[in-house]
Amino acid sequence: MHFNGIAFNASGPRDTEPEELKALADSRACAITTKTATIKPRKGNPKPRYYDDGDNSVNSMGLPNPGYEEMARRIKALKHYSDKPVFASFSGSPREAAAITSAFDEAGADVLELNLSCPNLGKGKTEAESWLEGLGAVEEATKKSLAAKLPCFLNACEQELFCGVLEQSRVKYLVAVNSPGGGLMLNQKNEIALKPLHGGYGGKGIKALALGNVFRYHEYFGNKKKIIGVGGVFSGRDAFEHLLVGASLVEIGTAYQIHGTGIFTRVENELKTELEKHGFKSAGEAIGKAIQL
Ligand code: DHB
Repeated sequence: MHFNGIAFNASGPRDTEPEELKALADSRACAITTKTATIKPRKGNPKPRYYDDGDNSVNSMGLPNPGYEEMARRIKALKHYSDKPVFASFSGSPREAAAITSAFDEAGADVLELNLSCPNLGKGKTEAESWLEGLGAVEEATKKSLAAKLPCFLNACEQELFCGVLEQSRVKYLVAVNSPGGGLMLNQKNEIALKPLHGGYGGKGIKALALGNVFRYHEYFGNKKKIIGVGGVFSGRDAFEHLLVGASLVEIGTAYQIHGTGIFTRVENELKTELEKHGFKSAGEAIGKAIQL
């Protein structure tokens, strides 16, 4: 699998409709992630369900998607149109996850991404045992590369417990972090911005937490797993910081929702300058090179 760059879209914004996927294919994004699909189509939560102030966002989308069968058709069409790697995101019970995995594998997806951490489903519980079960089902259903979309851990103990689970799986890409749930923003009219009140929080405010999570995975796994850093990437400097703490690729969520596909060009161009400024010949050279005092 070849990545022509380091930045692409995080699952979520502008990645469901065929024309959105085509726009990603035509952009500087080095891969394409598709919206988390479920076994049945879902309308999602009542609107307004997304809000941002230009820097940060809250969303309580509720996984609106056309269902995995239609998504598989869209992935197939996308793979005919573009040779970029496609990360196909999905969520469901172990049985559902196995069925979706097989369909996405057959449609030509390059990486099967299990979303273990949607903040807007159920009570946002994350349990090590349920992860093991879900990952086991997916591993049996495909020989392709696997990715896990991980929650934003707030402490080392909890993150290490899940590192133990990931170590037993053949998941290759750790996608860290998903938007932490329970966020609430007010709009200019003093209204709670989302109809469902709370939602996943994304944007500049989560960068420090994302860097903290990426650093711990890199410390734990070294180069045994590839880490995809997600959280607060708006510039080349942000992407560079994710590389320095251990990411080898970055995904962009809120900034892509706000700025569109131009964000990938901006981040790649600025990153090039940033790497040169600090004496790195390539992005790969910068991985894990943060200086510890
Ligand atoms: C949804 C929101 C998320 O932040 C996420 O990671 C997955 C799904 C949603 O509600 O659609």
